[in-house]
Amino acid sequence: MSSSYNILNGITGVVGIGLLASVITWIVKYQSGFGWASSPDLEFNWHPFLMVLGLVFLYSQSILIYRTGRYHTSKKILKYAHALIHLIAFLCSIVGLVAVFDSHNRKGTPNMFSLHSWIGLITVITFALQFVSGFVAFLFPGLSGFIRKLLMPYHVFFGTIAFIFAIITTVAGITEMVLWTDNFETKPPAVLLLNFMGLLAVVYGSMTVYLLLKPDYKRVPLPED
Ligand code: HEM
Repeated sequence: MSSSYNILNGITGVVGIGLLASVITWIVKYQSGFGWASSPDLEFNWHPFLMVLGLVFLYSQSILIYRTGRYHTSKKILKYAHALIHLIAFLCSIVGLVAVFDSHNRKGTPNMFSLHSWIGLITVITFALQFVSGFVAFLFPGLSGFIRKLLMPYHVFFGTIAFIFAIITTVAGITEMVLWTDNFETKPPAVLLLNFMGLLAVVYGSMTVYLLLKPDYKRVPLPED
């Protein structure tokens, strides 16, 4: 694997960790931290954190793993790791959704009114279908080589598009939080942090898609594959 891949992948990882750190900082500093039963507002805070952790940070790590781990371990192990990271990302997204729906229901806030929530739900459904179909086709029980080859371009397309949807949803969710911040027009520190968070999400998403699509970085199958 070329060293330019390693450098760009390293920078992408740092941007991703910066994104997670900015989400946690915003929640702890400006949203009074995490909670569940104690208050619906604190319960809501799990939503942005778990969605960004699962559908942005871990999703990227999972789709890049075939390239990142190409020379470190066998394809079989990479396949298991890909499925396992996706499973964790999926669980994060489910708990993240439960947090926001339950928080809304407890407060009597209506559900599914925003563009953010509509694209967000489409993202999670696409991700879930992609996960289940990929698991059945490529892992267990696994379909014939002919069908797997036929399905692979669709698996890659829908996997990439769901990731891009996750970035768009994140930016839309952050914009909502900016507009709900007191005196947002005067650019208070919470708003600057939210905007910075959105910028990191866009950079992280763009770098991930670049590493994913650049032909030079595609793995070349080995005879034992
Ligand atoms: C990939 C990431 C995300 C997905 C898939 C997602 C999905 C959703 C969904 C489906 C809802 C509707 C819940 C309901 O109607 O009760 C929702 C609500 C909400 N989300 Fe997200 N979300 C994501 C990330 C974020 C982030 C990063 C933020 C903010 C920093 C955020 C802020 C909100 C807010 C404020 C609501 C409540 C208002 C509304 O329904 O639009 N979300 N989200």
